[in-house]
Amino acid sequence: MVLSPCAETLPPIIMFPKHEEIIKVQFAGSNILSVHQFERADVERIFSVADNMLPYAQRRRMTKVLDGAILGSMFFEPSTRTRVSFGSAFNLLGGEVRETTGFENSSIAKGESLYDTARVLSGYSDAIVMRHPAPGSVSEFSAASRVPVINGGDGSNEHPSQALLDLYTIKSELAERGRGIDKLRIAMVGDLRHGRTVHSLCKLLCLFKDIQVVLVSPKELTMPAEIVEEIRSSGHQVLESEALEESIAHVDIVYSTRIQEERFASQTEADLYRGRFRLNQSVYTSHCEPNTIIMHPLPRDSRDNARELDDDLNDNPNLAIFRQTDNGVLVRMALFVLVLDVVDQVDSHARDVNWYIERRF
Ligand code: NCD
Repeated sequence: MVLSPCAETLPPIIMFPKHEEIIKVQFAGSNILSVHQFERADVERIFSVADNMLPYAQRRRMTKVLDGAILGSMFFEPSTRTRVSFGSAFNLLGGEVRETTGFENSSIAKGESLYDTARVLSGYSDAIVMRHPAPGSVSEFSAASRVPVINGGDGSNEHPSQALLDLYTIKSELAERGRGIDKLRIAMVGDLRHGRTVHSLCKLLCLFKDIQVVLVSPKELTMPAEIVEEIRSSGHQVLESEALEESIAHVDIVYSTRIQEERFASQTEADLYRGRFRLNQSVYTSHCEPNTIIMHPLPRDSRDNARELDDDLNDNPNLAIFRQTDNGVLVRMALFVLVLDVVDQVDSHARDVNWYIERRF
């Protein structure tokens, strides 16, 4: 018998913040909680600052502009690249990082509230980055924090820095093909219901012009209706499908995602969807236009029953996944210098490095 999970087994998806609660970004001193805080000009500002971070991220030059500053890094869900790239970004600017990972190592396990944790940790830090499984939790934490807070992912809600680095990657990949973000055709594939990266990316794309978004997911894991509505009401086109091959035929980018198994009531339920959509070199060659860009927020699930993005694509030059991860450092450095208001001082606190760096480029 095939188990068929019904909508009742999946809790409703609630999006934060509500529109009336959105505080547009000022940068200096701002929390970064949702992509709804940004106008197009803000995104362009972040990207232009990120461009200037390249010599520092590549370790050709070093800067001490955040010498003495401390980042509180609090990750209450598994993370490799988001946690390490936020930490690296802060270190590359000369600052130090204090880290808490997992509830079991934190006083939250003793019943401490987010309010108390925020009051305490913000006394020890100049900025805080936080990941937490509950939608809206980072926002709640930020309300009690005395220093700027950046959302490193709040449950299935949002992941604003990932959306910024994804869009930065989209911009640079398209620039190599001689075009900009407007008129982009993108297919998002996988668990669109729980995937916070695609939630934030869709909202961010609304700031651009004539975007076509093809949403490919099992019917139980479709993009939340209010995000689909937001894309449409911003003047863009949305197509929804359960068929991978035809959906990736006429797009500039295929953005694959992992089934977010940690958001399901049971592993059995998550397993129903793992491996449903698999992009590999043969599917790519048969169905995609030449030079279609392949993206994924990572981690990709490389276990045999998943493989949503096969390792046999590793030598495909259009596979942008590791350019995405490199770009994450640039974008996170840009957020720090803007939020901590040192953007104009980065270069005056800099010098060349003298150690071996050739293999990095
Ligand atoms: C994503 C996340 O945590 O939402 N990972 C990341 O931060 N790059 C995607 C995922 O875990 O599937």
